Amino acid sequence: MFYVKELSDLGFEYIPAGPDRNTRITRAQNARRLGSKLPPAYPNGWFAVVESSELRVGDVKPVEVLGLNLCVYRGDSGAPHVVDAYCPHLGAHLGGGSVSGDCVQCPFHKWSFDETGRCNRVPGQETAPRGVSIKTWETAEVDGAIWIWHDADGNPPKWTIDNAPELQQWGYRGRNEFVVSSHIQDIPENGADVAHLNAVHSPSLLTNLGERYPFLLNFVGQHTWSAQWTKGEDHTATMTLSHNYTFGKFSVFRIDALATQIGPAHVRLLIHTAFGPILISQSVTPLSPLEQKVIHRFFSPAYNAPLTAAFVRGESYMFERDVVIWNNKRFVSSPAYVKSDKTIRAFRSWYSQFYSEGSLSFRDALRRHREPLDW
Ligand code: FES
Ligand SMILES: [Fe+2]
Repeated sequence: MFYVKELSDLGFEYIPAGPDRNTRITRAQNARRLGSKLPPAYPNGWFAVVESSELRVGDVKPVEVLGLNLCVYRGDSGAPHVVDAYCPHLGAHLGGGSVSGDCVQCPFHKWSFDETGRCNRVPGQETAPRGVSIKTWETAEVDGAIWIWHDADGNPPKWTIDNAPELQQWGYRGRNEFVVSSHIQDIPENGADVAHLNAVHSPSLLTNLGERYPFLLNFVGQHTWSAQWTKGEDHTATMTLSHNYTFGKFSVFRIDALATQIGPAHVRLLIHTAFGPILISQSVTPLSPLEQKVIHRFFSPAYNAPLTAAFVRGESYMFERDVVIWNNKRFVSSPAYVKSDKTIRAFRSWYSQFYSEGSLSFRDALRRHREPLDW
């Protein structure tokens, strides 16, 4: 099961189809008052840059993430490598190059760079020029994706990441992908925003599915949620979540889940249902200051594969409800908090650990994005 939604699909249904629809969506987005105190656009942490399945041995790809052009490749050893895109010779994009061993070769004059980034071969020259290298990024392959460590001050990783232990036994069952127009922080903040659960996520999923299978509308009940968000002492936070589907007086589908937020851009959600467990690994990757690529990857034991396939779709519908809000909202730096919002306040102070002195301000990141020729 593979489910993709582009940004323009969600939250702009009020703009009718027509040749100027995209222009109107862009105008609505640009007119959005973003708020004046947005946190930096690119926190420090691990970010997923490409799906493991999309990078086979010998593949080279350009990727645009965190406002940067990078080149991702997989060497003959099977190890993924991520380097800056631009060749130090004459600036060609290495993403159009090729792989030999664990080196990447520039498409323009075939200079070769090893896995440490050092130039180790120039065709027609006996020796490679000394001191010529490209920046390499600390890389990890976890939960079906390739991640890089991004740190505004150039510090090494503050924590390491490993595959979820469940993945030793469980198989990959599918994923969904969204591009959301919002600040990155809005997306994990949802986990600490307990009040939105019953406001946004209680209408039945069957009303979504009913568009295709109208008989389902006879069974419409509602989802009820309760949740608790707790910050850890480190780069993690947890949320316990329980869900019931109630149909009249009956509670028919109970789910208990534990979400672990690992750093600024990665969540593992372990779900227990009567039919078996499911693990969802979420990554949020800023493509530009207000463009987040969100991917959910689903894993489960083989016996639970059919339910997991249904979950990919159900979770997509639930998530789309958040996307509609995010695509149109602004960032409020001093919200009118009520008592039950105390976890949002706690979340914001916890999340601020991922910004540092060197973090590019939101405005500078936006300027760099909109006026790239100045840089
Ligand atoms: S630009 Fe890369 S080898 Fe010349
Ligand atoms: Fe939500």
